[in-house]
Amino acid sequence: MLDELQKLVESARREIPLAGDRDAAEALRIRYLGKKGELSLLLRGMGKVPTADRPAVGAAVNSAKEEIEKLIDGALQQGQRAALEAELRAPPLDVTLPGRRLAARGHRHPVSAALDDVVEILARMGYEVAEGPEVELDFYNFEALNIPPNHPAREMQDTFYVDSAKRVQAPVLLRTHTSPVQIRTMLARKPPLRICSPGKVYRRDDDPTHTPMFHQIEVLCIDKDITFGDLKGTLEAFVQAFFGKSFRTRLRPSYFPFVEPGAEVDITCTLCLGKGCRTCKRTGFIEVLGAGMVHPRVLANVGYDPEEVSGFAFGCGVDRLAMLRSGIDDLRLVFENDLRFLEQL
Ligand code: PHE
Repeated sequence: MLDELQKLVESARREIPLAGDRDAAEALRIRYLGKKGELSLLLRGMGKVPTADRPAVGAAVNSAKEEIEKLIDGALQQGQRAALEAELRAPPLDVTLPGRRLAARGHRHPVSAALDDVVEILARMGYEVAEGPEVELDFYNFEALNIPPNHPAREMQDTFYVDSAKRVQAPVLLRTHTSPVQIRTMLARKPPLRICSPGKVYRRDDDPTHTPMFHQIEVLCIDKDITFGDLKGTLEAFVQAFFGKSFRTRLRPSYFPFVEPGAEVDITCTLCLGKGCRTCKRTGFIEVLGAGMVHPRVLANVGYDPEEVSGFAFGCGVDRLAMLRSGIDDLRLVFENDLRFLEQL
């Protein structure tokens, strides 16, 4: 028994100082001194020790236990010191380092921003927003706008037709412009009217300045004694509010079946500032608007009396406005949603 005790103490003296950290030291405490540890195992043999030898053996057991405890306490302290030293050796926290930037914030798409701005400008001029569906009946998109079924003007606005059972009697299509909202609003309300109608429109077009889907805003003003002068003044105020005071507006006589007279409105090309470039096809101007005095037949179509009221309307390409303002030279980029492009705006 005494021999075995001696061996146990010797093995403890070898092993315990090698414990690298707290956990290892705790594991050794359990191994040597735990309820099922090595010392307990030894003590089971106490019964065989002759009574006379027991006080001596008991004293040896106690001193072995004390020594092992001291060894373990030493190992624990050693572990703590090692942990502290490791912490001190780690690179210090440098509170003078510059802070980390927050992730870049997103922003509105340039077309949404242009749309919001246009609506705000028009709202200040007394226009309220009116909306209409993107999937439209031929009646509102063409017929009521004085574009009968076989009218050649339909070809300027070739569109996407929706295959539906109704189509035979009443063609359903993706609206080619926001002008059908003029009809819907006038049919629903009595003059005077000042509305604007922003939204998506669709045409069978695809080149650097035309995409199959684009945005327009329609403006309609109906009242007594509205003249072409009111149209021109409104256009100029609108363009200058959006682009700036130095911006020039140019009206060219044009034809839209639902206005008379009609005009195409160009504004100074912002890419070349009037010098001439690819985007403006070397003219120095870019077309952004169709405008005119609402055709008497259109007024009659919605039950207004052309002798009583008159009005003007214009329809504006919002994507063009956004392009011009942001210096974008290819409209298709605007709808690809490539972040490398959008982040530059
Ligand atoms: N709707 C026409 C277009 O899309 C523009 C327009 C609107 C012209 C209102 C005149 C009056 O081309």
